[in-house]
Formats: sequence, structure tokens, C-alpha cells
Amino acid sequence: MKLLHLFSPTLFGLLLFSTSSAATELPQLGKDSIQSVITALTQQEKISLVMGTGMDFPGLPDEFQAPVVGSSNKSRVPGAAGSSFAIERLGIPELVLVDGPAGVRISPRREDDDNRYFSTAFPIATLVASSWDVELAHKVGVAMGNESKEYGADILLAPALNIHRIPLGGRNFEYYSEDPLVSGKMAAAMTRGVQSQGVGTSIKHYVANNHEWNRNVIDVKVGQRALREIYLRGFEIAIKESQPWTVMSSYNKVNGTYTSESHELLTKILREQWGFEGLVMTDWFGGADAIAQLKAGNDLLMPGSVGQQNTLQKALDNGDLDEAVLDKVLEKILTVMLKSPAHASYQYSDKPDLAKHAQVARSAAAQGMVLLQNNLTTLPLKKGQKIALFGNGSYQMIVGGTGSGHVNSAYAVSLLEGLTHAGFVGHQTLHKSYQTYISTEEAKQVPQPFYLPQPVVAERVVSQQEIGDVALQSDIALITISRNSGEFADREVEADFYLSDAEKKLIRSVSQRYHDLDKKVVVVLNVGGVIETASWRDHVDAILLAWQPGQEAGHALADVISGQVNPSGKLAATFAMEIQDYPSYEGFPGVVTEPRSAELKSIMRGDHAAEVQYHDGIWVGYRAFNTRKIDTAYAFGFGLSYTQFSYGDVQLTRQEGSDSVQVSIEITNTGPRAGKEVVQLYVSAPKSKLEKPEAELRGFRKTNLLQPKQSQVLSFTINPRDLSSYDLESQQWLVEAGSYIIKLAASSTDIRRAVTFDQKKAVYIPL
Ligand code: BGC
Repeated sequence: MKLLHLFSPTLFGLLLFSTSSAATELPQLGKDSIQSVITALTQQEKISLVMGTGMDFPGLPDEFQAPVVGSSNKSRVPGAAGSSFAIERLGIPELVLVDGPAGVRISPRREDDDNRYFSTAFPIATLVASSWDVELAHKVGVAMGNESKEYGADILLAPALNIHRIPLGGRNFEYYSEDPLVSGKMAAAMTRGVQSQGVGTSIKHYVANNHEWNRNVIDVKVGQRALREIYLRGFEIAIKESQPWTVMSSYNKVNGTYTSESHELLTKILREQWGFEGLVMTDWFGGADAIAQLKAGNDLLMPGSVGQQNTLQKALDNGDLDEAVLDKVLEKILTVMLKSPAHASYQYSDKPDLAKHAQVARSAAAQGMVLLQNNLTTLPLKKGQKIALFGNGSYQMIVGGTGSGHVNSAYAVSLLEGLTHAGFVGHQTLHKSYQTYISTEEAKQVPQPFYLPQPVVAERVVSQQEIGDVALQSDIALITISRNSGEFADREVEADFYLSDAEKKLIRSVSQRYHDLDKKVVVVLNVGGVIETASWRDHVDAILLAWQPGQEAGHALADVISGQVNPSGKLAATFAMEIQDYPSYEGFPGVVTEPRSAELKSIMRGDHAAEVQYHDGIWVGYRAFNTRKIDTAYAFGFGLSYTQFSYGDVQLTRQEGSDSVQVSIEITNTGPRAGKEVVQLYVSAPKSKLEKPEAELRGFRKTNLLQPKQSQVLSFTINPRDLSSYDLESQQWLVEAGSYIIKLAASSTDIRRAVTFDQKKAVYIPL
């Protein structure tokens, strides 16, 4: 292997190159100081290095075309999201960036090559978060990092951790949660996992990019307290706990300034207050002013354009841009490059271990599914039961969302396949009818550009007669409800957040018929975000929230349905009764001055300025529902298991002189099956100077797999920062004096144990 490596063409080229460079004494990246490499760059080279090599996208306006340089614009990894220019004479490699976040998005086909380059479609981030298992996020990260590296990439454009402000957010599936602690911890674990493989991450989209509509120009008006406590907090945790190589700034403005042009966000907060050491890149074609971006601390302009190239050259010529600014940016870019596989001439195999990664995807998927309802222990099903599968989604699961978060996987296991492989018997005639219907309808579809969601086939109408016949010939019905969404569009309220008429009718008719025969009905929710459940859940016996579970969908579902895996996922987003119960719904999606359009021009910046007021402040998700006592269908943190757990007494210790509080609790499996419990720690803070939510999540832990009667002690450390809120007056974090209640809970509304302690004096914590 070593020998092969030594004589690899790339390295051989470099060796030749360094011999000749020695003669001309050109500094080399990695051998000589970064400063000397920067000094050896020409001005044109400097300009080309602060941007990507461009993007080939149909219909791009002239100024967005690829930069013009001597070398090739083509990435060495077909289908990569972007690349940087290589400057071979100085040993500067091409950096390759691939999307994220549910897998490595590259093109499976290559010119003149019969091989296929598929990637693993892992479960979506929302599912990973629902596992509440940071070890699991780390494992998925390790697999994704390895796959990135073996396909020749240097940076994975993931994880994404914007807050689920409203279920209608089209990209919520790429994001973790409505809560910043869950988001930050998951993103940190995923980042550590990916980076353990020697490739970088780009945590995105920094910040307040919570909806898609008009995202390239929308101005998010948000107060400082909500910004700090809700929208920045997850990023802060991820930066401090995992030091990602890169951060991607978002498309939107925050309080009048594009995030990619905000010195406050990129330099003051990210670097000076949080200690971020890597580089910041724009989102693709994000922001408006390349000079402002570089000055603000946004280092890499992606994907790079001829317009930016001209702007920078002009600004250097007329003095609007000091070359020293460019040099400072280059220092950050070259520092990241030094760590990259490309710089080490890593000989990637183009053959990641997809079989191994599929196992990671399968077990992760099963761990993040949430059992929402299970009347009279409908689930797990017994082997040999004859199952009738209703709903198009049973035959064609939506394994992930669309847009840049889409993954080109080799296959997707349907629910039918998964259950069949697990030994269940299906209803052949029904299954055949569905499969024929779906393929006929699909043949009629016009293919959409990759960045738009492919419309799903209309739900098949099943006649009463057919339902009646099938019900007589099967033991149980499973109905799958599927949703798809992705970049460039938010979700709809009708027939998306709420069920369509056809879906309601299907659930009603199937349930009636099966219940008449004393048989049960299970609904599988194959969705990327929250949907309404309260109006129909009483019709059915069990509801299993499968999210979009990645390519191993059917297998993972069969694992849970058969009881092979005991469900242990819990909700990281509130399932409300009605869409208007989310405080963010009022005024959504903001002031829009042009109609929605799926045209490319609508995704580029233009005159169609829009603004959204985050008038909901810190009242996002459970913070609002629980404080204002608004009923929910399923509360934040909720999830059932096939077993039960008891919570023992809480031990609270605060050592003399120590600022932090230690809390521990013993959890015992008191039910009949092995299982895992997610324990959540909420803090109710005294309400004196600042308004406070009823309680906020300040910690969480998941037990190991506990056998019946087995116990485990879980420990938590609460630091002063975990007790604090952002004080607008002092512009610091403030721990107020008074009585704090620590609640150990099975969900945000199912508090099992509580202990109180007194904070004698108020404490201010600088930013
Ligand atoms: C998305 C990013 C993505 C980038 C590159 C943008 O449209 O917002 O999340 O990483 O494209 O594909």
C-alpha cells in the first residue's frame, strides 16, 4: 500500500514539481510557512483562491457563471457541490466539497465509466435527533466522513442545524430540532464523527435560515434575546464542542444585513466570543457584496463566479479592498487546506464499504423512530400475521428530502420488502394493485430539475369493496402516510401539514372495516417534519413515526414492527393540534412582494425583497406550548416503548466552591422487554427580572439497552450557563438569584422527579 502510494501519479507529479520548484525556490504549502506561500501568490491567484471554481447550473445569469482562470473548473469528484482552484506550483490542492447532511451527494454516473458511485442514504437529521443519542450521531458521522473521504472529498457540507421554528420549513428534515440544546449536541457529535476520519465539516446555515420562501433575500427581524438563546445557541454549542473546520453562512439577512456580510456574526460572535478557528464559506450564491463578505470574515465565496472575480479585481485596483484583507482570508483557507486529504494526496478508493454503512443506516433509523400510539399493545406484530399494506408510501418510501440534501443511493428498501424479508406475509392482490398503480402514474410524470421535489403520485383510491375483501383476508392493516419536501419551497398547510381528503378517507374506511372485524390498524408516518395527527389518531390503534429513514427504511421499520428493536425515539419537535398553535405561524412566511415561483430566477437574489418578523421571540416549540398551556397532540420529548421505566430518587450535589450542580438518577426497566429510556433534564428558573419559559431543556441522556429489572444510574452536570438567560440590559448571560427546580422527565410534560436548590446571588456571565 505504501509503495503504491509513493508512486501514485499525483505524488509523482508533486515530486517532479518540487524538484523544479526547489530550483526556482518556490515555497510549498505544508513545507514552507503559510505566509511565504501567500507572498508567492499573484494577485489573480489570490482572487481565485477565495472563491470556488463555479457551478454549472442551467439558466445562470452571466455574472453567476464560473470564474475565468487558466486551470480547469471541473471537480475531480463528479457531482460534488463545489471545489476550489488548485495552484500546483505552490503545492495548493483542489479542495472538494460535497453535500450533506443525510449522506454524500455525488453523481452516481461518470462519463465513459460503467461503474456506479452510489452513496449511503442515511436517515434524516430529524430522525437522528429523535434518537437523543449523541453516540449514534457520532457513528453516523464516522460512516459519512469515511464515505466522503473514500470518494475523494475534503469537506462534507453538513451537519445542518437550523431551528425548526415552524413545521412548514421545507428543509426541516435536514435539521435536528426545535430546541437548540438538542441541535447543538447532535451537530457537535456528528462533526466529531465526520472529522475523526480526517475530513472537515461545514456546519450550516449560520444563522436564522428557518424557512425557504424567498430565502436568498429574506430579512429576518429577530430580537437579541431570541437570537442568542434560540438561533445562535446550537451553533455555539457545536463550535465549542467540536471545532468544525468550516461554517457555512446562510442566505438570509438578520436585522438588515446578510449573514455572510455581518462582521458581528462572523467575526465578533463566531470567532471572538466562541473561539471558532476555521473558515467561513457562503452558501451557494449567498449574499450580495463579495467585498463586504471578505471584510466581515466570510472567507470562501461559493460556488464562485466571474462576477465576484471582476468585483474583487476592481476593488483591489481602486483601493476599496486592501490586499491585506485578502491575505488574512487566505491564511484561514490555507490552514484548512493543510489538514485536508487532498493536501496529503490521499489515495481514495472510490469504493467505500457501502454494505457496512448500510448497517449503520439501518440501526440508526430504527433507533430514531418514535412510537406515538400503541393501544392495547398493537405493536409489535407477531411473525406469521398476514398484513395488508395501504398507502402508496408502503411501496415507495420517501427515504429523505430533496434538493442538496438528496442522496443518490443504490436502493431504497420499501416497507413491503422490509416486512417480507422479516418473514411477514403480505396480501398479494392488494400489493400488486398498488404497485401497478404507482408505476403507471410514475410513467406519466415529467421529471423535475434535481433541486425541486418530485411531486408524489396521488394517493391511490381504494374502493370500499376492495377494502372489505382485503380486510377479510388479512389480520392487520398498515397504512403509510408519506411526505416529501426540500430546498426552495416551504411545505403547504393543506394536504401536507394536514392530511389530504384522500388520506383521511383511506384511514377512516380501512379503520372502520378492520375494527368491524375486530382487527387492528397501524399508521406509519413517513414524513420529514411534523404533521397533524389529533383529528384522526383515535381511528387507529397504533402510530409509528418513521420519519424519512434513509435507504434501509423498510428493514428498519420491520425491525421495530417485529419487536426486534424496541422503539426508544422521542420527539425533538412538538406535534401541535393545529398549525396556528405554533406562535411562528402568525405572519408566516413574512412580507412577500412577489408571488411564489419555482423558476430559477426566484432563487437568485432580485428585487423581490421580503421580511419576516420573529415576533415569537424565545417562544419557539415547547417553550411556548408548555408555558402557555396550549394542548399538543404529542409533546416535545414524548415517545412510547414496548416496555416501561421507573425513575428512582434524584441525588443533587453542589460541592462547596463549585459553580456546577451534579444530578443523578437511577432508571429501572420495569416492563417485560429490553429497552432504552431517554431521560430529559428541564430547569425551571425563578422569574424575577427576566421573563422565563415554564421550563427549559438543559440536559439529556439515554440509557444503555436495559434488560427487564435492570437499572442504570444517569448523571448530569448543570453549569451556571445552563441556568442562565440572555439579559438585554447588561448584554450578558444572567443567572438570577432564587429557587431553581430541576426536573427529570420522560417528556417535557411528563415530569417524574423534581428537586429544588437555591441560588444565593445573581451571576453575570460574559458572552
Ligand atoms: C444549499 C446548501 C448546500 C449548497 C451546495 C445550497 O443551495 O443551501 O445547503 O450545501 O447548496 O449544494
